[in-house]
Amino acid sequence: MGIDMTAIVEKLAGLSEKEALSYWITGEHEEERFYWELAERAKELGLDDDLVETFAILAKESKGHGDRLFEIYKRRYGEQLEKVDIPPVEVLPLIEKFKKASDVISILYEAMKSELLAEAIYEELMKKVRNGDVGKVYEYLAMVEQEHYNQLRKEYEICVKKYSRGIEAPPQTSTGEEKMIQKPSCI
Ligand SMILES: [Fe+2]
Ligand SMILES: [Fe+2]
Repeated sequence: MGIDMTAIVEKLAGLSEKEALSYWITGEHEEERFYWELAERAKELGLDDDLVETFAILAKESKGHGDRLFEIYKRRYGEQLEKVDIPPVEVLPLIEKFKKASDVISILYEAMKSELLAEAIYEELMKKVRNGDVGKVYEYLAMVEQEHYNQLRKEYEICVKKYSRGIEAPPQTSTGEEKMIQKPSCI
C-alpha cells in the first residue's frame, strides 16, 4: 500500500482552514466506519474479545473526534462541509483482505501505518495553523492517533505470537517514545 506521504502533506497544507476541517471531519467519520467493519469481521472470525473491543474503542473515539471537529466547524462556517478531493489517510480498503483469523496480522500492520501517517499529518498541520484553538485540536489529535497506534501495536504483538510466521517488525513512531495525552480545554 504505497501512500505518498509528502504529496498528501503538501496537498493538505495547501487547504484553507475550512477545507482542512472538512477533510478531517469526513476522514474521522470514515475511520469510525472502518474500525466498526474490522470489529465485526474480527468477531465473525472468532478472534479474541479484547481485539474486537480495541477496534470498537477506536471506532468510538474516531466518531468522537469527527463530532468535535464538526462542532468547531459549525460555529465558524455552518453545517455545509467543503468537498475536498484528497483520499482519507486512515481508511484503507482492508476489509476484503480480512478473510481468515491469521490475516489480522497484516490488517493490524496496515492500520498502524495509517495511524502513524495521521499523527504525522496532524503534527504538520498543527505547526502551520495560526489559530490557537484549532492548533491545539490538531496537537491533541496527533497524540490521540499515536495512542491508536499504541493500542493496535499491543494487539499486533499478541497476534504475532499467536499466529507466528515470518513477520516484519512493526512500523516505528518517529521518536519511539510514548507521549502523554492532554486534552486541550477547547475540546
Ligand atoms: Fe483519526
Ligand atoms: Fe486514528
